[in-house]
Amino acid sequence: MGVQISPSILASDFSRLADEVAAVSETADWVHVDVMDNHFVPNLTLGLPVVESLLARSALPLDCHLMIDEPDRWAPAYAEAGARNVTFHAEAAQAPVRLAREIRAQGARAGLALRPATPVEPYTDLLAELDMLLLMTVEPGFGGQAFLDLVLPKIRRARAAVGPDSSVWLQVDGGVSVETIERCADAGADVFVAGSAVYGAEDPGKAVRALREQAERATAASSWARKNL
Ligand code: DX5
Ligand code: ZN
Repeated sequence: MGVQISPSILASDFSRLADEVAAVSETADWVHVDVMDNHFVPNLTLGLPVVESLLARSALPLDCHLMIDEPDRWAPAYAEAGARNVTFHAEAAQAPVRLAREIRAQGARAGLALRPATPVEPYTDLLAELDMLLLMTVEPGFGGQAFLDLVLPKIRRARAAVGPDSSVWLQVDGGVSVETIERCADAGADVFVAGSAVYGAEDPGKAVRALREQAERATAASSWARKNL
């Protein structure tokens, strides 16, 4: 699949969401939608009604990142509504296998997210049930935080677990920018979420292009991708 960029609208102007999505629709692969419930994380953002409205207006598929308690109860509805990817947190899910199957049964991709302190090893047996692993590179809850380099070894271990040409994508989210994206790509990530690095830029569409070029260059030079040549 190669490098994919998923701009997070958390950093955009919420009063103009459809326009903000349109600003990246030529250059991005996905639109990353951060759902926060003020329980799993301290922040509160948006929920299913806003996602439904965006689905009607977005030319790009929606990549919904649910930072919520009780995803077993709430996540399938996002898939049913038409989100192309639905990611829930390992720390919040009661039955991750059942939930991933429910999401897939609705025709969406199923993603499993891990906070920085959550190890990947307990979840490697579940990889066949998943379409994506999201390795958080900040503590979830807020945009604009500093990238945590301590997650890089986990990204390397996750890449080693899935293999170089995997159907399971490895997403990074938090503090991803022109300063940090190369480290993520070199460690093995292939889907890059960026909020402030895209919507804080003068031209969000151009910012996506610059991030993609950097990630592609770093991937081509990385040892994990070269194994695949
Ligand atoms: C943080 C969210 C991220 C956030 C990233 O909890 O999951 O998607 O929007 O924002 P930046 O790229 O600004 O760190
Ligand atoms: Zn996110």
